Formats: sequence, C-alpha cells, structure tokens
Amino acid sequence: MTSHQIRQAFLDFFRSKEHLIVPSAPLVAKNDPTLMFNNSGMAQFKDFFLGNGTPPSRRIADTQKCLRVSGKHNDLEDVGFDTYHHTMFEMLGNWSFGDYFKKEAIAWAWELLTDVYKLPKDRLYVSVFEGNEADGVPFDQEAWDLWKGIVGEERIILGNKKDNFWEMGDTGPCGPCSEIHIDLRSPAEVAEVSGKSLVNNDHPQVVEIWNLVFMQFERKADGSLIPLPSTHVDTGMGFERLCMAIQQKTSNYDTDVFQNTINVLETLSGKKYGQNDEPFADIAMRVISDHIRAVSFAITDGQLPSNVKAGYVIRRILRRAVRYGYSYLGFQEPFFHKLVPVLAEQFKDVFTELKDQEEFVTRVILEEEKSFLRTLESGLKRLDSIIGGLKETGLNTIPGDEVFELSDTFGFPVDLTALIAREKNFRIDEAGYQDALAEQKKRSRQDAAKEATDWIELRESDGVEFLGYDFEETHSHIVKYRKVKTKAGEEYHIVLDRTPFYAEMGGQVGDTGALLLNSGSKEDGARSISIVDTKKENDLFVHISRDKNLDEALSGAGIVTAQINVERRNKIKSNHTATHLMLSSMREVLGTHVSQKGSYLNDEVLRFDFAHFSKVTDEELRKIEDRVNEKIRENIALEERRNVPIQQALDAGATATFGEKYGDFVRLIIFDPKFSFELCGGTHVPSTGEIGVFKFISEGSVSAGVRRVEAVTGEKALELMRQQEETLNKIKDLLKGPTDLIKAVENLIEERSALQKKISALENEKIQALKTTLVENMETHSTFNLIVQKVDVPSADSLKQLSYELRDQVENLIAVFGAEIGGKPQLSVFIAENIVAETGLNAGKIVKDLAREIRGGGGGQPFFATAGGSDASGLDVALEKAKGLF
Ligand code: ALA
Repeated sequence: MTSHQIRQAFLDFFRSKEHLIVPSAPLVAKNDPTLMFNNSGMAQFKDFFLGNGTPPSRRIADTQKCLRVSGKHNDLEDVGFDTYHHTMFEMLGNWSFGDYFKKEAIAWAWELLTDVYKLPKDRLYVSVFEGNEADGVPFDQEAWDLWKGIVGEERIILGNKKDNFWEMGDTGPCGPCSEIHIDLRSPAEVAEVSGKSLVNNDHPQVVEIWNLVFMQFERKADGSLIPLPSTHVDTGMGFERLCMAIQQKTSNYDTDVFQNTINVLETLSGKKYGQNDEPFADIAMRVISDHIRAVSFAITDGQLPSNVKAGYVIRRILRRAVRYGYSYLGFQEPFFHKLVPVLAEQFKDVFTELKDQEEFVTRVILEEEKSFLRTLESGLKRLDSIIGGLKETGLNTIPGDEVFELSDTFGFPVDLTALIAREKNFRIDEAGYQDALAEQKKRSRQDAAKEATDWIELRESDGVEFLGYDFEETHSHIVKYRKVKTKAGEEYHIVLDRTPFYAEMGGQVGDTGALLLNSGSKEDGARSISIVDTKKENDLFVHISRDKNLDEALSGAGIVTAQINVERRNKIKSNHTATHLMLSSMREVLGTHVSQKGSYLNDEVLRFDFAHFSKVTDEELRKIEDRVNEKIRENIALEERRNVPIQQALDAGATATFGEKYGDFVRLIIFDPKFSFELCGGTHVPSTGEIGVFKFISEGSVSAGVRRVEAVTGEKALELMRQQEETLNKIKDLLKGPTDLIKAVENLIEERSALQKKISALENEKIQALKTTLVENMETHSTFNLIVQKVDVPSADSLKQLSYELRDQVENLIAVFGAEIGGKPQLSVFIAENIVAETGLNAGKIVKDLAREIRGGGGGQPFFATAGGSDASGLDVALEKAKGLF
C-alpha cells in the first residue's frame, strides 16, 4: 500500500463506522494559551471533552498535522538521530464524544490493523494502565479484559503513568490509555529476544503505533483530577510509523512519505542516503526531510519565521535543517527551499494549502536561508576572532558566555561552535554555557509569569452564546470566574453564558465595557465592573477585569447586564470593514496573489500583513486608497449570511484566510458580491458610508515576501489630516510665510550645503596650518620621528586625516594626538607600518592603555587606533605617558 492508500483506508474504515471525517486543524494553534502548535489530534476538540461546546458529530475521525517541538511534548532533539521521531507528523485519530467507549475503540483498532492493513497478529503487543495510587486511579481492568479476549494475556503489558496515562498539557482532559506496539525486527532477531521485552524500550523497530486514550478526567491547576461529565475516546496513530509497518521498512524515512525529498537531497549533494560511510550525512538527510515538512506547513498555516514565540520555534527548526545541510552535505548555498515543490506535489490531495501557496512558502524559506547563511558567516568570523584572542592569551577554552552570545545573538548553533573549536584544538566551556542558558530561561520565565487559580464554577453551561452581532447589551449569568496573577497585576477572568462582548479573534481586538451586577441600572446602586479586554480561550469568551476584590460580588451575582463600549466598537467596526474593502482593492491593483498573512485592528488603526514581493509604490497605494474611498462613498449596505455550509461559501468564491480554522458552517460578510465577499467572524458597519474616509499611514516590509500597511479611518483620519495641516502651518510660520513653501525649503537646504562646504574648506585650511607646526616641532630620533601633541580639531575624523596626511609627508612617523571634541576627550595613535613590522608595536594596544587615563576605551589596527573617553582632564597625563613609551 502507498502512504496515500494507507491514509485513505483509515478514513474509509471509520466512515464505515459512522464517523464524520473532518479536515485537519491548522498546525498553528489558535485561541489556546496553553499551546503554540497543535500537538495531537485531540487538541482541536479539547473543549468538547471539557463540556464547553458541542461537537458536530459524536463520532469523528481525521488526519491531523501535529508539531511536537515545544511544551510538554517535544521531540526536536531526537529527530534525525533516530528513525521514528518527527517534528511534524500526521496523527490519524478517531473520537467518541460521550458515545462509544473502550469496547468499540479496542475492537475497531484491532480490526483495522489486522483485517484491513493485514499487520501480523503475532507481532503486535498492547499495553494497559497499571493504575496510580497517588492520583487515585485504579488498574484498568476493563481494558485488560477486553484485550485478553482478543490477543490473550501473553501479549498484554502493564504500563505506568508515564507511558499509559495521557495528558495533553499540565492541565486539561486526560485519562488512562492503551497503546498498540509492533515488532518489526527480522525473524532471526525475534527468535533471539522476545518483542514483548522490548516494548517501551526505545528500540527503533519495536515501536508504538497507536494510542487509545480513554478520557475520563480533567487535571486541574492544583494537580488534582476530577471526573469529566461523560467519558470519551481519543485515539492517535502515528501515520509515518504505520506506513513503516505496512510497507515493511525499518525506518520511517525509508517509506514513500520521505523518499521524494530524500531523493532530491541525494541529487543536490551527490551523496547516497544509507550508502555512505558518513553517519552524519544520513542524519542530515533525515533532519532536513523531516524539518522541511514542519517549516513549510507552519508557514502555510500562517506562522512565519520570526524572533519571538511560535515564529522563533519555526526559525530554529529551519536553521537546524540549513545547518545540517551546511555542515554535513556541503550546501554552502541556499538549498532548503528547493524541497518545497516536491512536498507540495506530494500533499496536493491531502493538505492542498501548500500547493496553493507554493511560491510564497518557497520565497519565504529562501530569504530565511540567505539570511541565516550570512549569520553563519558572521558567526564564523566572530568565532575566529574569539579564538584569535584566546591564542594570544594562551587559553584553549571558549568561555560559556561567549558561546551563549554566539548562539543567542548571532544564531550560531552551539554544536557548530563546539565542532569548529575542536577542529582548532579548542574546547567550549559547556558548563558555563549551560549556566548562561539557564539564566536566560529564568529571565524569560519571570517575564512570562502568569499564575491562574482553577475556575470557580457557578453554574452549568454548554458553551457561550455570542450575541454581539445583534446586541450591544445582554442579560447574562456568570458561569465561572478565576483570578490570574500577571506581571501587570491581578486580573479576574469572567465567563458568561451569553455575551455581546467580541473576544479578540481574526485580528479584531476584544471589546471593552462593563458588567452591571444584580442588574437593573447603575442608578439602582448595582455594582459596575469594568471590562478592559475580552479574549478567547478555546471556545470560551473570557472577560477580563482589573477591578479589585471581586470574589464576593461575582460569586453572589444573579443576573448581570453585560454592556459593551459602543462608541469604541463602532470605530472598530469601521476599521474592520475598511480592511475588507482594502483587501479587495489590493487584489484589483496589485494582483490576486495578495493574501492575508496577518491582521490587527482596534478602534484607532488597522494593520494588515499580506503576501506581496515588492514594495507597494506610492502610486499603487494611492490607487488602492482611491478605490476604498470610492466604495465608502457608494455607501454599500452590508449583506451578512450566517451558517452557510463552508463548501458552498468557497464554491461561491468567498475569500478565506490560510491557517484559519473554520467550522462546517461559516459566516459571510459581503459588501457587493462582486467586490468584497469574505468568510469572517468579525463585526462590521451596516453600510460602508459610516467609515467616512480611509487613509494609509505607512507601508513597509515585515519579512521576506510579506508587506505591512497601516491605515486609519473616520475621525482618526481627520485627526491625522489636521495634524499634518498644523505641521505645515508651523513650518510656514517659521519661514515667515513664504508664497512658495517648497521653494523656500529647497533654498534652505541649498544654503546649508553651501555653508557646510565652506566650513569643511576652512577646517581643512586649519589642519594644513596645524600640520606645518607639528612637523616643525617634531622630535627626530634615529629610527623614528615622534609627534605627541594636544590638538584643536573639529572632529574625531580629523585625527585620522591628520595622521594619514602626516604619514605621506614624514617617514617613520609615530604620532599620538589628544583632542577635546564636543567636551569629550579623544586619543589617536599612529605608527608607520614599517615600524609596526619591525618592532611589533601595536597602536591598538597602546591606545587602549592610554585610554585608561581618560576613563575610556578604544582600539583599531596595529598601525592606527583611536579611543574616546569621559574624563578630558586626563588628556595631558595620557600624552605624557605616550611620550615615555617610545
Ligand atoms: N491524544 C493521544 C496522543 O496524542 C491519542 O497520543
């Protein structure tokens, strides 16, 4: 079976068992503060287990793109070194939400593996949870009995909490699990050592392929377990490992999932995978063919490489791949991006989004590669200079903080530093590096510190009802609340059963407003709680308040009137609709390749990132701006359609954003079906005229292939124009109201440059005169001529000019100058090159020594160096000292 057939057979099998087949959620997790990337099939369904929402069906199956490179599940460092771990992998999964439980899950797993995939029964082992006293969870007798009836006791292994109790993160739904393992060794090996003894022992050919989790508990922040409202099944099968088993290979990388990319690497490098005696070349090919998947799909799903958070994780994976190519496959030029087309082709029927964005992803990776290769080059130079410096001092260990700085600031990988150091008979201070790293981790933990108490539940609820499209105020109940300590202070997070507050999503900021407790109006003496932001946490709408001491008020609250700040919301709406009009106009003016890569809008400004490969010219910006304003004046009425089946919306040509997770039913926002027609959950003006006016304020680059514009609308735009007008009027006043302002400014600039020329000429004359005096007063010695003098010059550059000009005039010159420039002392040391060569004197070292007298530092080359300082009173001492040196 090909990998395509294997995947399809899984989905077909569960469809036949009445499961709804859903698409993979994007790789990048949205609205989940505990996850950066989806790390398992169940992540997108987490809320259904917790009872915070209703699944579209009680039986679901899919293949989910997963990434395990951060947080609780992190396999990054193993990838490439073994043959069965990955950064990105596909997880085949089937779920029961309060429907079937252990019996069906176990029976179907066995049926699929042995009847459909025809895996040999005598090579399969299963594990069952042995129980854990501390958690109060007993041995899973039910699973044991079920398996016993299928495989017999001899194929069952008991597993502990680490292996057989599955938790997604530190908190959340969890439960005992039953894993299925397969022994893929040769018959001879099997005869020698039983497969059973190798289960869970990191043997590359005795591996887990499927995990059946029986969700029964929720882990709370205080570590306790509470039973879930009903029981569920969550299974996950590693697709790549399954392919290895079915295709009878001994490594995931030998399956058709990875062979296409490995073939390209072989062609590019001239090395054969698995057939050369350089183990690191094979590791490199595995690393690269794994990492290209993670990087390409992350970018496809909206996560560009960057310096922070999820973006930084992607950048690190990309750099790890490029570095392995550079060090072990001889790739000194960008190569990684060349794998994208192969991958896009391979997945075009499964995850179509990569094929759709192939050019964009390729370009982003290419630019990242180029910049990293430059980094590697400057890192290498820096490393050379560190090693050079150490050689002079006779030491042979690169200090830990230098190693850390190389990796942290220069992005230069530590193992590469160690490798190069070794080649030069140096070593790195590994312990010192670890200390520096730990120190940085501590700092960032402190920065991110956020402590939340468990939710205090006040009433049952099956999900929040968002009423904010139609109402600015609702009567609601508090479902639960919690206290959170953040760096900014203490916050209350409040969840309501129904709310008009929009929670930050799709670029639109969260609403602010107030909750009036025990309703009625404020005049009745009801307590008003101010809400400063609303954020989504999975499917919850979390209202955030920084008011103090709310516990009593919240826990005793009856009906709550939830009111949003309407004036602010109206401005937000204008900016959101303007963003839609702008995107359509951009696609008209710049081309249909323009797609959204990021969006942020609040009541003041709208910011929009989009795929486009060159600067948007002023003329193009004007055209877009004109078009948007035209549409505003047309005063087009909003046409909003809710609950449209997604396929119907896409077939009708609605614009969707890559990397957004859409449900089966979507909301459409239309301003003239021929102009702007988008899938969107945000709030919009009833007709475009309300926006008033639209004005760009900036255009620039965010990263390779991505541009950013910012714009304002309505009142803000007017404010901006007024400010510009004021600035202009001020300039006019300053210039005494000229009739032609531009001409007047041009004249000023011309005058200024003429004056500057004059000053330079005068300064030059002064230096020439100074030179004559200096030469006249020069000390002549048998092997050198010495000038040590305090001089009056206009800039630090003049010291250099003076020294260089004197060199052309005087042989064997040594010149030391001191000067006070703008109140700050400066020193320069010049030593003729022939003297440097003969005596080994070094201007750089000398100037450093002299600089101590002026409380400063500096350096340069052996023949010329300068230093600046902070204590001008030391200049004379420094010069006296200089005289004694020669
Ligand atoms: N959620 C389970 C896992 O990831 C199935 O292993």
